Amino acid sequence: MTPLVDTFGRLHDNLRISVTDRCNIRCFYCMPEEGVKFFDRHDVLSFEEIERFVRASVPLGITKLRLTGGEPLLRRDLPELIRKLVAIPGIRDIALTTNAVLLEQYAVPLREAGLRRLNIHLDTLDREKFKQITRRDDLPKVMAGIDAAVNAGFEKIKINVVAVKGLIEPDIVPMARYCRERGFEPRFIEFMPLDSQAIWERRQVLTADEMIAQISSEVGALEAVPDADPRAPATEYRYKDGSGTVGFIASISKPFCLNCNRIRLTSDGKLRYCLFAIEEMDVKGLLRNGASDEDIQAAIRKNVADKWLGHEINSPKFVPPPRPMYAIGG
Ligand code: 5AD
Ligand code: SF4
Repeated sequence: MTPLVDTFGRLHDNLRISVTDRCNIRCFYCMPEEGVKFFDRHDVLSFEEIERFVRASVPLGITKLRLTGGEPLLRRDLPELIRKLVAIPGIRDIALTTNAVLLEQYAVPLREAGLRRLNIHLDTLDREKFKQITRRDDLPKVMAGIDAAVNAGFEKIKINVVAVKGLIEPDIVPMARYCRERGFEPRFIEFMPLDSQAIWERRQVLTADEMIAQISSEVGALEAVPDADPRAPATEYRYKDGSGTVGFIASISKPFCLNCNRIRLTSDGKLRYCLFAIEEMDVKGLLRNGASDEDIQAAIRKNVADKWLGHEINSPKFVPPPRPMYAIGG
C-alpha cells in the first residue's frame, strides 16, 4: 500500500491515541478548576474499537503509537489495551504519557503488558508549587509512581515540564538536576495556547533558548546532539561532560511542523492531523457502523491529504483549536 504522505511530502508513521479526556488533577494551563464537561462514556472509543483502528492503520505505515489523555491511567484496565496493541504485527513502538498519580499501582502491570516507554508529566519538585499548578496535593503520589516505574524496569523515562514564564523559572534548574541524577531525560515544553480558558499569552512562553542558557550556566554546559532524529518534536541537547540529555519542545519559538510525522485519534473517535487542527474527521461513526478496513484507511488517507503546512501560532491569523488539550490528547 502507498505510504501516508501528505501534500508537503511528510511521511506519517506515528499515531497518538487519547484514551480519555478525564484527568485526576487540574493543571491550570490545560483545564479549568471546576465545571469541566467530559465526554459521555458511550462516546468514548472502547479498547476493541481502538485496536481495530490501529490494525487498519498499520498497512498504511503506522508503526509508532503513543497513548495520552487526559490521564490515560484513569481508563480502567489500561494494561489490557497495551497488551492488545503490543500484539499487533507491525507496531514497533508504544509509549505512554501519564501524570504518574496512579502509576504506583500500575507500573508493574503496564510493564508486564509489554510497555517499554514512559513520559511522565511533572513540572516541579516543590509540593506547594505542584498544588498551585495542578490544584491537587498529589506530589507524593507522583514521586511514588516514578519510583515504582524505575523499580518495574522502565528505562530512559522522560519527564515533561511545561515551561510557563513567570512561574517555572525557579524550577528549571532543580528539575534538570533531578533528572540528571536519576538518569531521566527532562523535556521542557514551551507553553502552548491549548488551555480551555484562553489564558495563554505570548509573553508567558519561556523559550527553549532561555532555558538552554539557564541550564548551561547553572547545571552544566549543554551542546546540541549532532545526530538527533530530525522528525522527533524535541530538540535534543546533552551535557558536554556526558552526564545526560535534555530535550526541548520549542513549538512556539522554533516550530517543527516541517518534520511532523503524526496524526491523532481523540478519545471520542475523531481524527486530527495536528494538535492545533480546526477540522477533524469522525471515525467513531465508521467504527460503529460496520465500515470496512478500506473505509477506515480511506478516512485516514483523506485526513492526511487535508493536512496543512503547520500551525500559525506566530501569525495574527492564528485561531486556537476548538478543543482544549485534555480533549485532544497531548
Ligand atoms: N502547553 C504546553 N504543553 C502542555 N501540556 C498540557 N498542556 C499544555 C500547554 N498548554 C503538556 C503536558 C503533557 C503533554 C502531553 O502536554 O505536559 O504531559
Ligand atoms: Fe491532566 Fe495532563 Fe491536563 Fe495536567 S496537562 S490537567 S495532567 S491532562
